[in-house]
Amino acid sequence: MKTACRWPSGAILGLALLVLSVHSAGAQEAAETFRQTCMSCHTIGGGRLVGPDLKNVEERQDREWLAKFILDPKGTMDSGDPYALKLREEAGGALMPPVPGMTSKRAEALLDLIAAESALETSQFAGLDLGDEPFTALDIRRGEEIFVGYRKLVNGGPACLSCHTVGDLPQLSGGTLGPDLTRVFERLQGRKNLASWLLAPATETMLPVFAGRAMTQEEIVPLVAFFEDVAQQRREDTGSARLLFLLLGLGGAAFGFVLADGLWRRRFRGVRRQLVRGGR
Ligand code: HEC
Ligand code: HEC
Repeated sequence: MKTACRWPSGAILGLALLVLSVHSAGAQEAAETFRQTCMSCHTIGGGRLVGPDLKNVEERQDREWLAKFILDPKGTMDSGDPYALKLREEAGGALMPPVPGMTSKRAEALLDLIAAESALETSQFAGLDLGDEPFTALDIRRGEEIFVGYRKLVNGGPACLSCHTVGDLPQLSGGTLGPDLTRVFERLQGRKNLASWLLAPATETMLPVFAGRAMTQEEIVPLVAFFEDVAQQRREDTGSARLLFLLLGLGGAAFGFVLADGLWRRRFRGVRRQLVRGGR
């Protein structure tokens, strides 16, 4: 009798769990999509990147329009829609690219996600605001330790050094699968953009390597500090290397004059001696 009663409640619980997990799988998928395909251009509550901050976007425009725009940004823009044109102007002419594999259902799920994240005090997609304060020496050293792998990434991503080199780290030369990161701070245009890039790497190799093993903010801050420092040092290095080269060049020229002078004199004397001898 007891077991007969327990069975159906177990089934109900199971069903409830199933519904819950299907639902959260949808939300999870949207979050993953946002991280991988939207976050390089948009924050939710962290200010403008290439595209506008999406916090409370539905207070500016209705959902139907937004879903249509996400599904077909180019078509909406080309139609001359005034709101779209205003967005483009505010973005300095930058255009939102069509997102591969986008469907209306996915666009709706993304808008649900944006609404839910907008309601939070700090969204996981707020990006990182690293300010303009100089980084500390500790940040820079920690970044270097993460880069070379002395300090493990908490979510299990591999050490950067296995695929990248940077600057001239003493005695270490890194992997060559990825590009040299000495100038990445300048290439990706500074703190905010580099930090957002690292929060959600979206390129061919970096995406799968860090999918599900995202770097944390506590790791990204020191990495950015390290890359900024490396880029700065390199600028100073090339400055002083140029000076050294110039000094060597000048010194070399002076040495050359002295040498030539000495040789010439000796040769002159030799010729004279011969002349004298020949004269005898
Ligand atoms: C390469 C950069 C880029 C990517 C990637 C990108 N967007 Fe955009 N997005 C923009 C720009 C720029 C605009 C402003 C409109 C324009 O100029 O095309 C915009 C506008 C929008 C708007 C309208 C904002 C408003 O204020 O009304 C929404 C919503 C939006 N994007 C959502 C998304 C979503 C969701 C994704 C990911 C699936 C995404 N975007 C990926 C650049 C991007
Ligand atoms: C498995 C190899 C691999 C590992 C490990 C790896 N990367 Fe990469 N990374 C790449 C490749 C390859 C690229 C070039 C773009 C692409 O194919 O993804 C790249 C690109 C980058 C870029 C963009 C470079 C540019 O000039 O645009 C940055 C920044 C970057 N990686 C940072 C890191 C950091 C920080 C780590 C360590 C936490 C790391 N990578 C670990 C392979 C790797």
